[in-house]
Amino acid sequence: MVSYQHLEIHGGSLETIVLDASQSENIKMCAEVLKSGGLVAFPTETVYGLGANALDENSVAGIFEIKGRPQDNPLIVHVASIDDVEQLVTGVTNIFKTLASKYWPGPLTLVMRKSSNVPGSVTAGLDTVAIRMPEHPAALALIRASDTPLAAPSANPSGRPSPTKALHVMSDIGGKIPYILDGGDCKVGLESTVLDISGEIPRILRPGGVTYDELKSTLGNVELAGSEAVEKPMSPGMKYRHYAPKAPLTAVSGSPDKTAVYIATRMDDCTAALMFDDYALSHPNIVLYGHSTDYTAQAARLFDALRKLDSFDVKKIYAQLPQENELGYAVVDRIKKAAGSSIVDCTKE
Ligand code: TXA
Ligand code: MG
Repeated sequence: MVSYQHLEIHGGSLETIVLDASQSENIKMCAEVLKSGGLVAFPTETVYGLGANALDENSVAGIFEIKGRPQDNPLIVHVASIDDVEQLVTGVTNIFKTLASKYWPGPLTLVMRKSSNVPGSVTAGLDTVAIRMPEHPAALALIRASDTPLAAPSANPSGRPSPTKALHVMSDIGGKIPYILDGGDCKVGLESTVLDISGEIPRILRPGGVTYDELKSTLGNVELAGSEAVEKPMSPGMKYRHYAPKAPLTAVSGSPDKTAVYIATRMDDCTAALMFDDYALSHPNIVLYGHSTDYTAQAARLFDALRKLDSFDVKKIYAQLPQENELGYAVVDRIKKAAGSSIVDCTKE
């Protein structure tokens, strides 16, 4: 946690104050801001969110402005109970009930047909709305105290790595919002799984904290949106380059020993690398993000690691990709997005 004093402000004109999220008076203060149409940043178990009253067009407009977010990229609406969903959708289906009772609160966002209560700006004009119930107690307390569902994207400017610490939020959008609730480091570290249940077959639009295997065992039938979803985006957020550090990043896939050798032979003073703990090279420009088989650690540490890579004055960054098992699939997804089209397959080298 950072100290609860007025911290340095970057850009913007407001004095941004970081508040301890475990104090109920701080939750109340932030809820007052949200009720009066303002924005605050708050912790969730996935990443920090930039929240506004989801039912108020004007407040929602503030999110797009602060993030510099394209208007065609819809927002996730956060609720504090399963019952809160009824007012936001045209009907509560059995599949929704099954998934919500099993995975909520938690890192699973469900896309459903929207009701007329949800402003078109939240859903970017789509007839579906994405909804999730976060697990972090401060997020739940804030939604309850605000007495409204909260629209909240990750609290980073569009294109930057998502924030997993209050300090990330401060350095990204400090000066633009009055308060940041500090609830410590985000446990999951990657954004929620986005699952579209508005069609015949449930479809994963974004991999995340709840894995394909888990959803498959619960639902029997689930599709993974592939590259076609990026060309003709099912989830509009998928078509934008994301999470990018300043220097261009190349994602290196293959077994960890092969990717480590590939990177080792290319390291110099103008190059940095994101590597597994058990394959760390002895070079000053290396950032580690967990053991090669510990996908949970990699997920939790990835975004902070991408930000650390920005502290090096380098021209190129390499990243070791994990295997695409379990949560590793979501880790690979985020690193590939940070890499854009720069991906090397070591098995073919
Ligand atoms: O873990 C999370 O989901 C975090 C925390 C704060 O809850 N939020 C988050 O929001 O990652 P954001 O805005 O960074 O990503 C939302 C994703 C985007 O890819 C967006 O396109 C997709 O969800 N999305 C939102 N509404 C949708 C809809 N109606 N249909 C399809 N995709 C949708
Ligand atoms: Mg985001």
